Amino acid sequence: MASAAAPAAGDARRKTACVTGGSGYIASELIKMLLQNGYAVKTTVRHPEDTEKNAHLKVLQELGPLEVFRADLDEEGSFDDAVAGCDYAFLVAAPVALMPQNPEKEVIEPAVRGTVNVLRSCAKAGTMKRVVLTSSTAAVSSRPLEGDGHVLGEESWSDVDWLRANKIGTWAYPASKVLAEKAANEFAEANGLSVVTLLPVVAVGAAPATELHTSVPEVLSLLSGDDAMVDNLELIEKASGGIPLVHVDDVCRAEIFLAENQASSGRYVCCSLNTTAIELARFLAAKYPQYKIKTDRIGHLPEKPRVRISSGKLADEGFEYRYKNLDEIYDDVVVYGRALGILPY
Ligand SMILES: NC(=O)c1ccc[n+]([C@@H]2O[C@H](COP(=O)([O-])OP(=O)(O)OC[C@H]3O[C@@H](n4cnc5c(N)ncnc54)[C@H](OP(=O)(O)O)[C@@H]3O)[C@@H](O)[C@H]2O)c1
Repeated sequence: MASAAAPAAGDARRKTACVTGGSGYIASELIKMLLQNGYAVKTTVRHPEDTEKNAHLKVLQELGPLEVFRADLDEEGSFDDAVAGCDYAFLVAAPVALMPQNPEKEVIEPAVRGTVNVLRSCAKAGTMKRVVLTSSTAAVSSRPLEGDGHVLGEESWSDVDWLRANKIGTWAYPASKVLAEKAANEFAEANGLSVVTLLPVVAVGAAPATELHTSVPEVLSLLSGDDAMVDNLELIEKASGGIPLVHVDDVCRAEIFLAENQASSGRYVCCSLNTTAIELARFLAAKYPQYKIKTDRIGHLPEKPRVRISSGKLADEGFEYRYKNLDEIYDDVVVYGRALGILPY
């Protein structure tokens, strides 16, 4: 176990939540929000000795009771201590490599086995009111879709047989998300656990984590000019039929909403808007004229999304987005990107 600020005596009645993958982007924001909402939080990291990567957790310990545990999705029983006594568990940790060398071994198997591994610990704990699994709309839109004008929501599942047969681009990630969701639902059903799934689109916005490997470098790539990240943005657009965006603050508020809202069940898409790399480039060029945007790199992509992700179910249950347009969604991520060295000043 890494550094721990054990809950003080007065914290005994606080709601307690476990967040897996505290070193990561979304988990770091979720931990912050839970602490600000009065929760006691237990989080897991694979490498507690990596003080640089986990530096934000030390800072977050100033907000409230936050304990840090070592756990690995690949190790059976590894999450037992972290979920013991918790009211809620947020399963955020997952293999997120878009282009792994060995997709089945590096992404699909650990995602599925790891999800069930954490759920087994949750069932063992016997205190869990709700588990929120973080999937992705990659588990919604990666299926054969002819033409354009598609609107997809919770009822749509990415097609694992088609992904495995064609192995196009980032195929392993959507396959891993579908298979992890299905394995979680099966385990929940068999073991009487209340599991709800959140499916965020591409997340944007500032968070406490200071080492980033997912969405932020990609959504800033048109400004940073990082060719590898522009390639990733293109991969996302090709795989999704557009670039659907949501602010990380809304993702984390949706995570907590689904934990606390007893009536919630099943899958929930979390998406504020649907755009394309071309629309994004135009918006960014107008808002940040100091950056030179390489529009030639993306000029061959479609103007409008072929596929739109709809998230009516969350709204129907009373969830309200705070960040609704590109201007609001991009507001703090540019400052964050500069602070992290992803963007020049
Ligand atoms: N960012 C997005 O736009 C987005 C959109 C939709 C869904 N999601 C989902 O949201 C979740 C978090 O993503 P993120 O963007 O925050 O990514 P991230 O910053 O890369 O975080 C991923 C986390 O998972 C942990 N992890 C990976 N493999 C693990 C293993 N074998 N055992 C234990 N922990 C492991 C990582 O730990 P290490 O630090 O040790 O590698 C890291 O803490 C993922 O489930 C992702 O699929 C993200």
